[in-house]
Amino acid sequence: MKQGDLLHSGKAKSVYRTDDPGVYIMKFRDDITAFDGEKKDTLCGKGVYNAEVSSFFFRYLEEHGIRTHYLESTEPGTMAVRALEMIPLEVIVRNIAAGSLVRKYPFREGEPLDPPVIIIDYKSDALHDPMLNDDLVFALHLATPEELDLIKATALAINEILREYLDARGITLVDFKLEFGRDNGDIVVGDEISMDSMRLWEKETGASLDKDVYRFSKGDVMETYAAAARRILSPSGGETA
Ligand code: TYD
Repeated sequence: MKQGDLLHSGKAKSVYRTDDPGVYIMKFRDDITAFDGEKKDTLCGKGVYNAEVSSFFFRYLEEHGIRTHYLESTEPGTMAVRALEMIPLEVIVRNIAAGSLVRKYPFREGEPLDPPVIIIDYKSDALHDPMLNDDLVFALHLATPEELDLIKATALAINEILREYLDARGITLVDFKLEFGRDNGDIVVGDEISMDSMRLWEKETGASLDKDVYRFSKGDVMETYAAAARRILSPSGGETA
């Protein structure tokens, strides 16, 4: 497959066309940003770790009956994906209160959320990703009620699959963000599932294994991403790998 023109460049990934109109190549760059793009850096090797972890999770979800845009891993730092009509929603599933939930609502950091809480934001840098409710999703014609039901059910199913997988590797899945698209009318998971889009806490120590290390300058970001990737990609029970 031949990489063609650049179609879109986001904050940390670029998407290229290929000679097949139904297939794109997603390149995970080494750029990292936080706080609505206010904090920015380039960390050599980050893209490769996020691509490896995303590719792995997409394959794992496919094995568990979840449809994703993943096709194959071509070269390090890239992923071949099915071209989707993306839906501009950030679908966040939360198992434990952290981040913006603690800043905006009277939750204590670390408080379990049972059942998990889904928050849906409108993906728009210009509008700073405002939070939506179901009525706003419909009023903005972003998804139909049937699609939104399916998106929520799929997000919760993915949460159960990933939570169990990570728990076996000594990692608590605190929260994570998904994006969805349409493939001939079917709802499919797109974008990425990586250390940039998840909050992961080491069970034993409570240490962050994700972008919070960058957001809050909590340590060496690349060492953290390497350790997270090693654990996530390790066979079951490899907590000390
Ligand atoms: P959240 O606590 O809302 O974000 P922050 O603390 O950065 O304000 O984020 C919840 C989870 O969703 C967290 O793991 C990061 C992820 N996320 C994204 O990947 N992209 C986003 O635009 C948002 C809002 C969250």
